Amino acid sequence: MKNIIKTPYSLRFDPARLTQAIDWHGHLAFAAWLIETLRPHILVELGVFRGDSFAAFAQAVREQDVDCKLFGVDTWQGDATTGTYDDVYPELKDYFDIHHPSARLMRMLFDSAISEFADGSIDLLHVDGCHEYAAVKQDYEMWKPKISDRGVILFHDIEVLADGFGVYQYWREVRDQYPSFSFKHGNGLGILLVGKDVPEELLILSRDAVECEKFKAIHEALGGRFFYRAKAKYWQTEHKNLGSRLCNAQLEIERLNDTHAPAVQMGQPSWTRRLIDKIT
Ligand SMILES: C[S@@+](CC[C@H](N)C(=O)[O-])C[C@H]1O[C@@H](n2cnc3c(N)ncnc32)[C@H](O)[C@@H]1O
Repeated sequence: MKNIIKTPYSLRFDPARLTQAIDWHGHLAFAAWLIETLRPHILVELGVFRGDSFAAFAQAVREQDVDCKLFGVDTWQGDATTGTYDDVYPELKDYFDIHHPSARLMRMLFDSAISEFADGSIDLLHVDGCHEYAAVKQDYEMWKPKISDRGVILFHDIEVLADGFGVYQYWREVRDQYPSFSFKHGNGLGILLVGKDVPEELLILSRDAVECEKFKAIHEALGGRFFYRAKAKYWQTEHKNLGSRLCNAQLEIERLNDTHAPAVQMGQPSWTRRLIDKIT
């Protein structure tokens, strides 16, 4: 492993942003390793959503002092596989304005962003938009000319077999066109080594199955910690919210009892009505 993991950086990587969008958390330590190893000059993420993967890339770029411009493209409106949403962007923008002001959030369709990048300029492209087969194929084919000689393309969700998801199939079509390797955990991540001059560490992983298995085991264990940490944080927040709802409900019951109890008691028992009937 000493030729591949050269420093403890990615082993100790501690992602600052872990939202409830947990799908990418299993790969965050790998993201840190990849930034340290590839040292990309231009990184483009297609599909940012709550920004968990994009923020990890940005954090590693900063911590490793890599001269890299980061671009995250998304409509922040959702797609056929995520479903539609419209409440994510403001919080995400505030987060990046504070922590990674030089990372550019491009709120537009992928097709509209592509003209901003020169051919052969992107060192790291993360394809994580709509996961339908036709959409992934289109994203890959449109953006591939933009990949540099050192370029790497990541495909997320290559192990998801749910209805409508076609990355599984598309990954099996492209993975042999270039050196590649993949992770099964965290919905699966495919790493396609498209450039002819990618760093040797990545090439070793693509051709040495034993080294690759060790590398994957380490990253699965590291990523698992973040996945469970985010889940625990989510349930702690739910617990707190439910606790305060329960407390409010109890107060409301007490208030209603105090205000209305005497009238209710008078109106309910049938013996009271019988007594009144007898008297009148
Ligand atoms: C799976 S999410 C991205 C997840 C993210 N990488 C993470 O770390 O959690 C996919 C995102 O791609 C965006 N998207 C899909 N197709 C798009 C397109 N053609 N143009 C712009 N955004 C798109 C959706 O709005 C959605 O937010």
